[in-house]
Amino acid sequence: MSRHACDSAVKPLTINDLAAMKMRGEKISCLTAYDASFSELIDKAGIDMMLVGDSLGMVVQGHDTTLPVTVNDMVYHTRCVSKARRRAFVIADLPFMSYSTPVVAAQNAARLMQTGGAQMVKMEGAHADIVSFLVGQGIPVCGHLGLLPQSINQLGRYKVHGKEPAEAKKIIAEAHQLQQSGAGLLVLECVPASLAKEISAQLTIPVIGIGAGVDCDGQVLVLYDMLDIGIVKRPRFSRNFMRDAATIEGAIHTYHQAVKQAQFPSPEHSF
Ligand code: KIV
Repeated sequence: MSRHACDSAVKPLTINDLAAMKMRGEKISCLTAYDASFSELIDKAGIDMMLVGDSLGMVVQGHDTTLPVTVNDMVYHTRCVSKARRRAFVIADLPFMSYSTPVVAAQNAARLMQTGGAQMVKMEGAHADIVSFLVGQGIPVCGHLGLLPQSINQLGRYKVHGKEPAEAKKIIAEAHQLQQSGAGLLVLECVPASLAKEISAQLTIPVIGIGAGVDCDGQVLVLYDMLDIGIVKRPRFSRNFMRDAATIEGAIHTYHQAVKQAQFPSPEHSF
């Protein structure tokens, strides 16, 4: 029996708990998770949030991009993760083309919540109209700006976004629009640390960075990258936490501590 299964005092974190962490300046730790075994390990290490990311298309399914991931895939993996978590807040990605209209988005988000057990859904891009529709239906939404992996065929390559002043201004405006539309969280991926710092300071909702510097309200990494396993090359902004750890639990614990103490990411893992 797991430690948590014996501990009836452990309660799932809510979006209010995450907002309170931002208010009191406590960093939020997050990792991606795709199955029950890792979900239990991550949860036990005290990580605050688990993101069932469509990165599973690359690290679990072996695709070159996240585009082939389906809603059925996401529901399946979200359910696996939700079953084993006790405390961590669970977010599930809406995959490519699953939020092309507000109604389609609501139907797919409902499946991720009702069958998958997600507490929030994440969507890439500045879709303020869709966010406000979902929030109106009682569906918590996490925005995602900066590098948008589902748009890789338009972008041509994975790169840092917001280096140019006009692009930075656009990302700041979009972040405010998402917050005004009711988004409860925002992920910023691959943006300069200075830009992420500015957005995190301006928004009242927690901003979670990946390749976005240490001044975000929290950090997320793809689990397989930080464990340095799998077929995808570890991006420059990630760190191999297995290098100095004897066990996977140890690596996850070190990551959690490094995020909480604002020791990760260092400038070497930032843009
Ligand atoms: O799919 C994913 O893992 C993500 C993170 C990179 C934020 O969206």
